[in-house]
Amino acid sequence: MDVLGVDIGGSGIKGAPVDLARGELSQERFKVLTPHPSTPDAVTDCVWQVVRHFALPVGPVGVTFPGVVVGGTTRTAANVDKGWIGRDAAGMLGERIGAPVTVLNDADAAGIAEMSCGAGRGRTGTVVVLTFGTGIGSAVFTGGNLVPNTELGHLELRGHDAETRASARAKEEGELSWRRWAKRVNRYLTHLEKLFSPELFVIGGGVSRKAEKFLPLLDSVSAEVVPAQLQNNAGILGAAMAAAAAGAMPATAA
Ligand code: BGC
Repeated sequence: MDVLGVDIGGSGIKGAPVDLARGELSQERFKVLTPHPSTPDAVTDCVWQVVRHFALPVGPVGVTFPGVVVGGTTRTAANVDKGWIGRDAAGMLGERIGAPVTVLNDADAAGIAEMSCGAGRGRTGTVVVLTFGTGIGSAVFTGGNLVPNTELGHLELRGHDAETRASARAKEEGELSWRRWAKRVNRYLTHLEKLFSPELFVIGGGVSRKAEKFLPLLDSVSAEVVPAQLQNNAGILGAAMAAAAAGAMPATAA
């Protein structure tokens, strides 16, 4: 069964139907630019454009959001318009699309996909998946189960919100070399290792495409550190997986 996944990101809103049996996109993804300001109404319009592009029979749709999402309500908005705080995002998107919509945190979605068919496949210990982009997203798993909305990008690092120091945006804006940026990421990983003692860190987000530049420099932790494997598609895949799982729940309960 194909389920549509849509990933709301800082620069683009992209989506594609996902073949869940294969764990891959079944059509090329379609992307529209993220509107500025990224208000709920403007972003909802974009999600609708992405959904409409595929002209599929309307089934469950999974949508990622770059903030805390509890029961379909968006609770924080660090890098998007503050109008999202406290909105029933699942209800709003569902009404516009005319289908049941599951909304989840973007890093949680990427983590779900990496655990099921990427770098974390088969790992049962504690795994921390991090996405380095505009912010730092996190997804923590143990026994393959997700603890949602961990928001580890906002841990304090030397008196600063970690993502303002160690995200890919911080690297770009501060014109940091890979070595200088890796030093900050090492400090961050060391802190996370003290808190969670994971067996594995999966490093995702746009930077994972350039893993050869920085992975050898991430040597501060005893846990294994590997690049994400699904890169730009992880959010879409994980969103679709979450929507399918949510859709399956009532049937299982019946
Ligand atoms: C948000 C997280 C999000 C991450 C990556 C952070 O600023 O608080 O919810 O997962 O950025 O987009």
